Amino acid sequence: MIYVTGDCHGDYRRFNTEIFPEQKEMSREDYVIVCGDFGYWDESPEQKWWRKWLAKKPFTLLWTDGNHENYDMLAMLPAERWHGGMVQYIGENVIRLMRGQVYELEGIRLFAFGGARSHDIQDGILDPEEPGFRIKYKQLRARNAMFRVNHRSWWKEEMPDAAEFEEGRKNLDACGWQVDYIVTHCAPSSVQALLGDGLYQADALTDYLEEIRQKCRYRKWFFGHYHGNRNVTDRDLMLYEQIIRIR
Ligand SMILES: [Fe+2]
Repeated sequence: MIYVTGDCHGDYRRFNTEIFPEQKEMSREDYVIVCGDFGYWDESPEQKWWRKWLAKKPFTLLWTDGNHENYDMLAMLPAERWHGGMVQYIGENVIRLMRGQVYELEGIRLFAFGGARSHDIQDGILDPEEPGFRIKYKQLRARNAMFRVNHRSWWKEEMPDAAEFEEGRKNLDACGWQVDYIVTHCAPSSVQALLGDGLYQADALTDYLEEIRQKCRYRKWFFGHYHGNRNVTDRDLMLYEQIIRIR
């Protein structure tokens, strides 16, 4: 079995047995895929508690990264090969699918590409090393400003670099640009334009995903990021808290 869902932001309650009873029939060879903003943030007691809770789940949890992940922590984890593509283990059954990788899972070919530009940072990114940080932080908090703090709640690695873009092209070349499913955090530019009605700006990543959308043959494309559940086209699906079965 393979299920897909959207952003978790460190809150995994949707995977409790009452909400997701299907897991009673699942084993570690069955998968639930999270389309980014998994919530790999810190070593707080709360996050450690959740990771222990997830480690007891009968299924394997796969996730692409979103714009809200701790990329400093991810950089410390080794990358290893798993089902044909590179991954990082957060736990024995909690696995990050890395950018631009192609995986073969029980006859299904899956392309994953995480990351997204944050669209809730219009009041800026604060640097804790800069003088006056504490005062600025308090002022922004007091007026409920949309801001983040570098290396604490924002990382430049939320956007992929040229090597990651190239890695995706190389791996799609190797499989003839034909996959079953694509899992990303943000959407290709044309899909984003349809769902946002002009609200979202195209950027290097959405344009790259658009290139893939034009060139690659795929059955369904799942993405998170926009915090809604909607079939934007007949093969491009936005997910948030819904968990849907694809196999
Ligand atoms: Fe999100």
